[in-house]
Amino acid sequence: MPVSTVYRGTLAHSTRDEALQILEDFVLGVDAEGKIAFIEEGQNVDSLSQTWGFQTSDVIQLEQHEFLMPGMVDTHIHASQYSYSGTALDLPLLDWLNTYTFPVESRYKDLDYARNVYTKVLKRTLRNGTTTACYFATIHTDASLLLGQIADDFGQRALVGKVCMDCNSTVPYYKEPLKECKDETLRFIRELLKKEYAHVKPVVTPRFAVSCSSSLLHTLGKIAKNNDLHIQSHISENKEEVKLVKQLFPDCKSYTDVYLKHDLLTDKTVMAHGCYLSDEELKIFHERGAAISHCPNSNLSLASGMLNVRNVLNHKVKLGLGTDVAGGYSPSMLDALRRAMDTSKVLSMQDAQHQTLTFEEAFRLATLGGSEALSLDDQTGNFEVGKDFDALRVNMCIPGGPVDMFPGQGPKVILEKFLNLGDDRNIAEVFVAGRRVVPFPDL
Ligand code: GUN
Ligand code: ZN
Repeated sequence: MPVSTVYRGTLAHSTRDEALQILEDFVLGVDAEGKIAFIEEGQNVDSLSQTWGFQTSDVIQLEQHEFLMPGMVDTHIHASQYSYSGTALDLPLLDWLNTYTFPVESRYKDLDYARNVYTKVLKRTLRNGTTTACYFATIHTDASLLLGQIADDFGQRALVGKVCMDCNSTVPYYKEPLKECKDETLRFIRELLKKEYAHVKPVVTPRFAVSCSSSLLHTLGKIAKNNDLHIQSHISENKEEVKLVKQLFPDCKSYTDVYLKHDLLTDKTVMAHGCYLSDEELKIFHERGAAISHCPNSNLSLASGMLNVRNVLNHKVKLGLGTDVAGGYSPSMLDALRRAMDTSKVLSMQDAQHQTLTFEEAFRLATLGGSEALSLDDQTGNFEVGKDFDALRVNMCIPGGPVDMFPGQGPKVILEKFLNLGDDRNIAEVFVAGRRVVPFPDL
């Protein structure tokens, strides 16, 4: 297959063996299906042009202060909570849900309301470099389908979950009876799959053990198994929540055991937070191939806890980063990366033995780690031949930009400065499966 676009310049990405690999003066070709056709040293450009049938004059040359990196993967974000992001951070989790979250989420029976917020969250996350997002919507099937449609329209890779909850909401109008929840979940999955969107798929979404009866959890475990679907939920975010789950499921050994017993812990499961998981629980995650989404902004903003990332990595549990909007106040994955490093440094202050997360490791979590956590690493997460070209073109010298660069600062410094100081102004272009999705086309 001939290539449609070829770039030449600096590439920065992660591999299984290296948290950060910087390839200087490389050429990367993207084929007509949006897949990476080749990655080779720049000096081979002439022979590549013959093999792949492109003109060397058509090669897009990146500037010295530019680089390509993989698009970022937000492994946990509530699209429906975007309207109040940056506010309402004064209560702990369970009060926060009942006071702010459930009343807002109940508004999504109104599709005009949903369209407005969902369009804005899609644009905001794409502009900030999120090429893949794993979304919670609300209990409303039609609005959740609309989120899938808007993600497809804008070209973001997405897992979309219609939220399931049948008990313990103090807002009586924001939950569904078991039968309705099951039927609507099946309708959601059927209708979303029927659309055959290239990059948008359904994810089975029990809100968390507190909001779901054992019957509902069993039902959802079966639905996920029968349809080979992704699963997402929350786990061990906050101490009160962990206590409550113990009371609600007295026959289960741990919070992890609740999901395990209901067939919800698979190699396509991603659980948000996990701050209070024991080593035994992490072992179960590893055995099952289930993943954790680390949501450090949310963990700090709702004063929930701190995930020990080093311990999770030592247990070889798949791990990605999540913004957890609006428990986390920022929709930017760069913020999630920074807060992950901050949290790790706090843990190092508390324990001199703690091995602090490096910026290279945080970079991997935001990209390849996220794709592994969502079991999408066969398609995205880094620059590997055969994967989709999900990428950011970063430019660190833009007029009025947030970062000053100085002579002699090489590609590693340029990347580190982008991760710590950059923002959406530096993200000149965003690609998903080879399609340019930022700047936005006129829809
Ligand atoms: N646990 C159950 N629901 C939620 C939610 O919407 N946000 C967060 N952060 N935790 C939850
Ligand atoms: Zn969440």
